[in-house]
Amino acid sequence: MTQNLADASRSAAVPAARTAANTGASRGGWWRDAVIYQVYPRSFADGNGDGMGDLPGIRSRLPYLRDLGVDAVWLSPFYASPQADAGYDVADYRAVDPMFGTLLDADALIRDAHDLGLRIIVDLVPNHSSDQHEWFQRALREGPGSPLRERYHFRPGKGEDGELPPNDWESIFGGPAWTRTTDPDGAPGDWYLHLFAPEQPDFNWDNPAVADEFRSILRFWLDMGVDGFRIDVAHGMVKAPGLPDLGSHDQLKLLGNDVMPFFDQDGVHAIYRSWRQILDEYPGDRIGVAEAWTPTVQRTANYVRPDELHQAFNFQYLGTGWDAAALREVIDVSLDSMRPVGAPTTWVLSNHDVTRHATRFANPPGLGTQIRTPGDRALGLRRARAASLLMLALPGSAYVYQGEELGLPDVTDLPDEVRQDPSFFRQAGQDGFRDGCRVPIPWSGTEAPYGFGPNAGGPSWLPQPAEWAHLSVEAQTGDPTSTLELYRSAIAVRREQPALGAGTAVEWLPAPEGVLAFRRESAGGAFVCTVNTTGETVRIPAPGRMLLSSTEAVVTENGAELPADSTAWWAV
Ligand code: GLC
Repeated sequence: MTQNLADASRSAAVPAARTAANTGASRGGWWRDAVIYQVYPRSFADGNGDGMGDLPGIRSRLPYLRDLGVDAVWLSPFYASPQADAGYDVADYRAVDPMFGTLLDADALIRDAHDLGLRIIVDLVPNHSSDQHEWFQRALREGPGSPLRERYHFRPGKGEDGELPPNDWESIFGGPAWTRTTDPDGAPGDWYLHLFAPEQPDFNWDNPAVADEFRSILRFWLDMGVDGFRIDVAHGMVKAPGLPDLGSHDQLKLLGNDVMPFFDQDGVHAIYRSWRQILDEYPGDRIGVAEAWTPTVQRTANYVRPDELHQAFNFQYLGTGWDAAALREVIDVSLDSMRPVGAPTTWVLSNHDVTRHATRFANPPGLGTQIRTPGDRALGLRRARAASLLMLALPGSAYVYQGEELGLPDVTDLPDEVRQDPSFFRQAGQDGFRDGCRVPIPWSGTEAPYGFGPNAGGPSWLPQPAEWAHLSVEAQTGDPTSTLELYRSAIAVRREQPALGAGTAVEWLPAPEGVLAFRRESAGGAFVCTVNTTGETVRIPAPGRMLLSSTEAVVTENGAELPADSTAWWAV
């Protein structure tokens, strides 16, 4: 499956440098208030009927995304990969995996998207490669002393015969972060570092060949016309000198709370300064987006300083429960942290790594982002719709994960034998339930795969629940009460109302306990968003003319009745 890097780039029968799509007037950087839609290629649309989504499938559904009204599409990895971690294990960064199509398909997809006014952001995975990557394979073959070993972290083991890992680091997916190699002569050899699965060896970013290679990969995709990169594990590339022990055996719990010797090291920022120079060389506002797990939003802000990346995911927001006080606090902290560096705040509720928010909010708080119980579905959906309207009313850029616009819940009862999340297997089924948010999208019809693939009754790589027939795009289109139409209307209003998306602040208005009310001001007019996070109807003076509501709200001369778990938008 691994394609030779040089051959793959030579065979790229695509035009040379092309400028990015010009989608509308410049708003001081298109990304500042963009709605960006995440496509998970395995699960979006299957063009050839093999049960696996692919690039031609995505291409055929671009008009749907244009009509939804989003500004850009972020594609999770579609590169050549053995799929040990669903494509986040890249064997060849310049080739498309045959399961997804070809480079020509990627080229056609980028062109079509631009013609429709959509920008394309691709995923870049620089912390680790696949163990099938040519460099790693050569490093293994050539044995100790091979210069290729310097591009990864190979170390002798501890103990009398090197039988113990070189340090105490644990893999995010469970078990030690080290795997022992076998030397070419068959003897037990050095160990290599993999913060994720053993099939994902970490690059050594102190080696200049690694940095050079990634600068070249950036240019390859920029020349293909992409509008930016979502950078996977953007906080991981630089490790503390000497790879010191952590001294704890509960490292997963520390993630995101403490500075770790393998995450959020200050050295990563030099990499982003060098990448920013490359992005800026290209016309059309190309961007970099950091997937950075850091202990605080303030540390996340370091990734989006003016000479680094453009956006960083706001995981603190994603991790906040359905609670007015907690939401208000995270919104304030997020806006306050980004303002000094001049970067837009981002807002995200779901992605391919966490339980969908319709299911998170259906369950009691405090269960984290890997949940296996469906909870109260109706409650979850009501809150999810309200949370989505809140997110789309905040200043900055919002990320929508495919299927959330359909109100899809997580599939919590997937049989173990169909699961593919590597973490599920490394944690002996105790964790790693990410397949539940990766189930293919229902498009139409009454029978699985619901238009995901071309044939009725055809396959889908994960089974779709029977009740998804009612949640398909076809079933929801034209139904004013559907979640899909709510998203379409919300994104359309966001485009029309200059007070939405733009700016860097919200003005909080007095509101009853459990209710959030904020005002956004702009030259074009003011806007108010009200959010009732309580389980009761709350009556308030009507803030203005209602534009949109996640659950039908009643406005009378005496005021507005905000139903339980609902958000409303008002023009004032
Ligand atoms: C990121 C991806 C996740 C992947 C991991 C390792 O967190 O979002 O899906 O498993 O990196 O590449």
